[in-house]
Amino acid sequence: MRVSVIGGAGYVGLVTAVGLAKLGHQVVGVDVNATVVAGLQSGVSPIYEEGLDDALAACIASGNLRFTHELGDETSEADVVFVAVGSPMRADGSADLAAVSDVVKNLATLLRGHTVVAVKSTVPVGTIAAMRSEFETHGDSVIDLVVNPEFLSEGSGMWDFFHPSRIIVGTDSARAREVMRDLYAPFLPGGEGISTDLDMARDVPLLETTVQDAQIIKYASNAFLATRISFINEVAAVCDHLGGDITRVAEGIGYDPRIGHRYLQAGIGFGGPCLEKDLQALIYFAAEHGYKANFLESTLARNEEQLNVIVQRARELVGGELRGKKISVLGLAFKGGTNDVRTSLSLRIIHLLMNFGAVVSAHDPVAIEEARRLAPDIEYAADPYVSAEGADLVLVLTDWPEYGELDWSRIAKASNGKSVFDGRNVVDQIACETAGMAYVAIGR
Ligand code: UGA
Repeated sequence: MRVSVIGGAGYVGLVTAVGLAKLGHQVVGVDVNATVVAGLQSGVSPIYEEGLDDALAACIASGNLRFTHELGDETSEADVVFVAVGSPMRADGSADLAAVSDVVKNLATLLRGHTVVAVKSTVPVGTIAAMRSEFETHGDSVIDLVVNPEFLSEGSGMWDFFHPSRIIVGTDSARAREVMRDLYAPFLPGGEGISTDLDMARDVPLLETTVQDAQIIKYASNAFLATRISFINEVAAVCDHLGGDITRVAEGIGYDPRIGHRYLQAGIGFGGPCLEKDLQALIYFAAEHGYKANFLESTLARNEEQLNVIVQRARELVGGELRGKKISVLGLAFKGGTNDVRTSLSLRIIHLLMNFGAVVSAHDPVAIEEARRLAPDIEYAADPYVSAEGADLVLVLTDWPEYGELDWSRIAKASNGKSVFDGRNVVDQIACETAGMAYVAIGR
């Protein structure tokens, strides 16, 4: 099928474009960012994602994928046009739909004939109706609107694309449902016969819903994940007070098949561009429609509270006063496996520590450049051992596997205070203590 992905240089857009091209569709990725598009045309990805570079090169070489910064014939003649532009959070928690509106205006005048426009951007209930009226007012084409939410996680985006837990298609158009079934056919029940040498999931559940339900499924999925994290951080605080070990407690409760083990890692809270944004948006839209979502508000408040918990503990570990203390912070990305520092709680914690007068030296295996662009006021160190030089405290804020393999005797020699605060429960406690450092962790 012919597919156009608008926002094709962004995280969701790029992974979707590459994934669909690998499935054999003819894909064009369209993005306003001409510099990034120029890089993509020669196979250079703007994001760090396992398996993406190879897949991108293979799809460009096979002729299934190209990139452009202008909407043109490939989009107007596409069977499916995906909208995957950003819908960032405004200060009040609502979604900023400027980019989505621009795309809809441009598509309304460009599209001819019968096209399925599938929205991957997470947009509030009501936006689809507004899009429909824009198309009806300004275009003379027949547009079938679909909400097809994305459940990709950064760091495992390519794997997630080929192993979806479910495919959600929200639309009131029977024709669009058929087009989307064809697009995703190899994944779906009955699609086993379609030959492919890709490592991919088969027999994936397809849920065809109304537009509203598809949108709420997306928001509620992220809100539920956020709730699990706030829940486990709350239990970690209980463990801290009662003398329990949250890693054992989470393991113990996770064996219950009704609960499961995933998303039960206590830490510094949930960061990143999605969980908080979607939780805030759900709270905001519920309020707009007259419902105060107290439970969701508590999930959010618990996440904010976790920042204070971390800073307070760091203060205690350096003797009660942060002013003038040197803190080595290991980890800037909002989670291991990505170079994304947008809404990274690590940056917020560093700024809180600096506001209290601490001197921070921060390290990350891949995200220093991105962090420097957002936070030029922070001092960065090229490796963890340099970061630890003269430090009163080593504070681990991202769950990078390499922080589980650090040479703690080197850090012990370099640092001053000989304490490690493991904000992610990733550090090797025995190696740390053997090197003579005091080990403190969340909920243990
Ligand atoms: C999240 C969802 O997991 C995806 O399903 C969804 O598609 C995506 O948002 C989106 O809406 O685009 P992502 O933002 O990549 O994916 O991040 P997660 O892996 O969910 O992690 C979010 C935050 O929670 C990170 O800071 C992570 O370190 C933290 N986390 C996660 C924990 O503190 N504990 C856990 O057990 C799991």
